[in-house]
Amino acid sequence: MNDRPLSLFLPDESATLALGRKFAPLITPGMTLWLRGELGAGKTALARALLRALGYAGTVKSPTYALVEVYVISSLYLYHFDFYRLNVPEEFEERGLGEYFEKEAIRLVEWPEKAAGHVPSADLEFTLRFADQAREARIRAWSERGHQCLTAFTACESAAGN
Ligand SMILES: Nc1ncnc2c1ncn2[C@@H]1O[C@H](COP(=O)(O)OP(=O)(O)O)[C@@H](O)[C@H]1O
Ligand SMILES: [Mg+2]
Repeated sequence: MNDRPLSLFLPDESATLALGRKFAPLITPGMTLWLRGELGAGKTALARALLRALGYAGTVKSPTYALVEVYVISSLYLYHFDFYRLNVPEEFEERGLGEYFEKEAIRLVEWPEKAAGHVPSADLEFTLRFADQAREARIRAWSERGHQCLTAFTACESAAGN
């Protein structure tokens, strides 16, 4: 996909949460979302907003230590990964994490670069950057499905006058 990445300014946490809420209805099972950015950039906050909007009412923990948290929302499976603590990318295979990518689930992946060469590619890539106290998001589509999501999101935003 050669879409230009979409850049958004997120002035505060509520803007990050709104971004997650807006993408939730556009994401379909089988999709992989990479969430990139430094520690504290808002990757987990974005994941939490997506989960909430998909109907998960419980606690959303950061999977930093467990590497993966599994959510079942009605019949939808969602896997939330955080590879920050992978020592080497090969650990992805050693821990059998590839199995999670074979199923028709939604996958949110923090720190995909720590499993470089092993973690499957993204349909959508969100990169969050610090902008003083605020954040900037860059969203990029890497597949046809990702492209459709991004197009739908852009259409909703312009209809809303954003
Ligand atoms: N757009 C934003 N502007 C300012 N602060 C934000 C924004 N989005 C999220 N935050 C804050 O940044 C922190 C992000 O933490 P977290 O989501 O755990 O980061 P990460 O998972 O990327 O390490 C939280 O304290 C959250 O309140
Ligand atoms: Mg996190």
